[in-house]
Amino acid sequence: METIFADMTKGIDKKLMQKAGDILKEGGLVAFPTETVYGLGGNALDAEASRKIYAAKGRPSDNPLIVHIADFDALPKIVKEVPKAARDLADAFWPGPMTMILNKNDKVPMSTTGGLSTVAIRFPDNEIADAMILAGGGYIAAPSANTSGRPSPTTAQHVKEDLDGKIDMIIDGGPVGIGVESTIVDLTEDIPMVLRPGYINMDMLREVLGEVRLDPGLHFNDPNFHPKAPGMKYRHYAPKAPLTIVEGPADLVVDKINELSQEGEAAGKRVGIIATDETAARYHHGIIKSIGTRTEEITISMHLYGILRDFDALNADMIYSEAFETPNLGQAIMNRLIKAAGHQVIKV
Ligand code: TXA
Ligand code: MG
Repeated sequence: METIFADMTKGIDKKLMQKAGDILKEGGLVAFPTETVYGLGGNALDAEASRKIYAAKGRPSDNPLIVHIADFDALPKIVKEVPKAARDLADAFWPGPMTMILNKNDKVPMSTTGGLSTVAIRFPDNEIADAMILAGGGYIAAPSANTSGRPSPTTAQHVKEDLDGKIDMIIDGGPVGIGVESTIVDLTEDIPMVLRPGYINMDMLREVLGEVRLDPGLHFNDPNFHPKAPGMKYRHYAPKAPLTIVEGPADLVVDKINELSQEGEAAGKRVGIIATDETAARYHHGIIKSIGTRTEEITISMHLYGILRDFDALNADMIYSEAFETPNLGQAIMNRLIKAAGHQVIKV
């Protein structure tokens, strides 16, 4: 299949946007930017389109998709009911990086929800995404637009690396602003529960909803717990090389990574180091890349997946990363980083 590249970095191209809408209405697939990561869109109400999404990504079909809308009034049409908590969340955070889970109605096919009777819904805060959703019929199922298992795409180039020739169109809207996927809040439980941490953090949710729990299944190291969001159990977000996180006071972390990277180099390995602007100059071995600055957390989340892909392209044999327990985004960043590391964490 020939994939159309639609450059919209300088604004929406109306003709190409109409083409995207036509593709979606005919059951095809279009990758598009959102404020979190790039998505791979297909008509959420068309079971066959959902099946195509799973096939293009190589994704297990028990892993449900998020339905993207671009109009508040689209919500009640695909769910059994809209509880007050859902209205409050929508008022506070939509359009934005927050996905809610509600009980679905019959309009949403089981192939979109991986066989579940619930559906995840999100209204993204991105002009191109919203125009495309509306052009495509108003309900667009979209997982992240990466090959299953690879780091999520934060530029159109990343999407091209993974999906060129496998989908109908890629819309380039430039690099994303947040870089980690939306916060998922399950409203089908008695107490709202976060299934995936994101930019909208626990404190922000509690301000709107009162009591909010974090899915106990996210505490990875206990094999007795399983995350409720099916997608959170897979070891995705992963770079090709084994990644190890070194956690502790900054000076000790730098010393440890210097020691490990020296050992790696001495053994003839290509070592990658994920540093920050504050620490980059203090490393002396391997390929050192700054992910961003600790004084501006968003620079870290924004570059997380890209830096993992960079080390793939450089054929790193091993990667060491500092930990990023920053105040607001730390939970989301560390959730992804720890998964990318397959739980390989050294405490110093
Ligand atoms: O920021 C985002 O949410 C991005 C952009 C493209 O919007 N999308 C995204 O989709 O991250 P995806 O498919 O990569 O992740 C969807 C997650 C998976 O972990 C999936 O298991 C969970 O949402 N999920 C979807 N529907 C669910 C449901 N009904 N119940 C529990 N978890 C659900
Ligand atoms: Mg994903």
